[in-house]
Amino acid sequence: MITSADDGKVAIARARDALEPEHVAVRGLLDTLHDHATTAKDTQRLLSELHKTLAKHFAHESYPGGFYDSIAAFRTELVVEIGGLVDEHFLLLSTTQSLRERAEKGEAGEARFRAELDTLIGRLLAHEKHELELVEIALDG
Ligand SMILES: [Fe+2]
Repeated sequence: MITSADDGKVAIARARDALEPEHVAVRGLLDTLHDHATTAKDTQRLLSELHKTLAKHFAHESYPGGFYDSIAAFRTELVVEIGGLVDEHFLLLSTTQSLRERAEKGEAGEARFRAELDTLIGRLLAHEKHELELVEIALDG
């Protein structure tokens, strides 16, 4: 239970640090997908890995008492923005799953597919950036 501003900041920083290896893994996968998924087979494999990684990562962030909870509990003015990040999780995960399924059907080599994949990568990076900005705001207050 958070009993002071310092306790709140400690809880947020601890949750952020615990998730850092996952954030490194997600960013690495996105970089690899963007820069090195040149064949349809590689794209399919990497999208499958991304889907599994994101499903686990997003669940960890949303655990009761976890990362998002610690921010929302400490900085109630950020509750709406945290809720927005949770909503984005559902959208980003379903888009990833859809692209993964389409890749398995053989669409990964198509130009339109590649454009949609690049859009997804951009949205995921923006989501993670927004999340870190909220952490900075919470820790600065
Ligand atoms: Fe994240």
